[in-house]
Amino acid sequence: MHKRNRWFVTISLIYGLLGGLVALTQLIAPGLIPGYVARMHGHIMLLGFILMMIYGVALHVLPRFSGNALYSERMANWQLYLANAGLPLMIVGWLCMLNWLVLVGGAIAYSAIVLFSVNMLLTVKPNGPWR
Ligand code: HEM
Ligand code: HEM
Repeated sequence: MHKRNRWFVTISLIYGLLGGLVALTQLIAPGLIPGYVARMHGHIMLLGFILMMIYGVALHVLPRFSGNALYSERMANWQLYLANAGLPLMIVGWLCMLNWLVLVGGAIAYSAIVLFSVNMLLTVKPNGPWR
């Protein structure tokens, strides 16, 4: 497995553990974590755990299923950097209740989704006699 895709899977698992801890802490000691905790937990789980896992698995599997090489390794590397810059900024934004920071982080996280979408669409182009 490509090192970058392994990073995605590893980071996903770390976010899953973190998101669970945030929710359990909030249930055990409400108010201990400042800010908008439910929203933070939800997005750590969805943009962190679930989406990073999808990124890592899809970047590994879809080129192999389609029989094409990944369209762009550079785009996928930037996707890793942007996804992991954007979500922490969103988390800090929700911790500090700074909507503009959530917006900046969200725009960066969104640009990773755009790169992923373009890269995947150009990778899974029809190929071979069954197209
Ligand atoms: C580790 C186990 C988990 C626990 C203990 C947990 C607990 C909670 C709690 C207490 C809330 C807040 C409910 C409220 O007061 O409104 C919540 C909200 C939420 N959880 Fe979890 N959860 C867990 C796992 C997950 C997972 C795996 C996902 C998604 C993949 C998830 C997604 C969400 C979402 C989207 C919300 C709503 C956030 C919002 O209101 O913006 N949770 N969870
Ligand atoms: C670029 C990425 C994303 C950004 C910037 C973002 C931002 C936000 C914001 C600002 C809210 C609060 C909306 C409000 O109550 O005014 C929100 C709510 C929510 N988001 Fe996201 N989000 C993103 C990705 C996702 C993804 C990928 C999922 C699910 C797979 C998701 C699920 C949710 C859910 C379940 C809520 C709660 C809705 C509710 O309170 O009814 N978000 N998001």
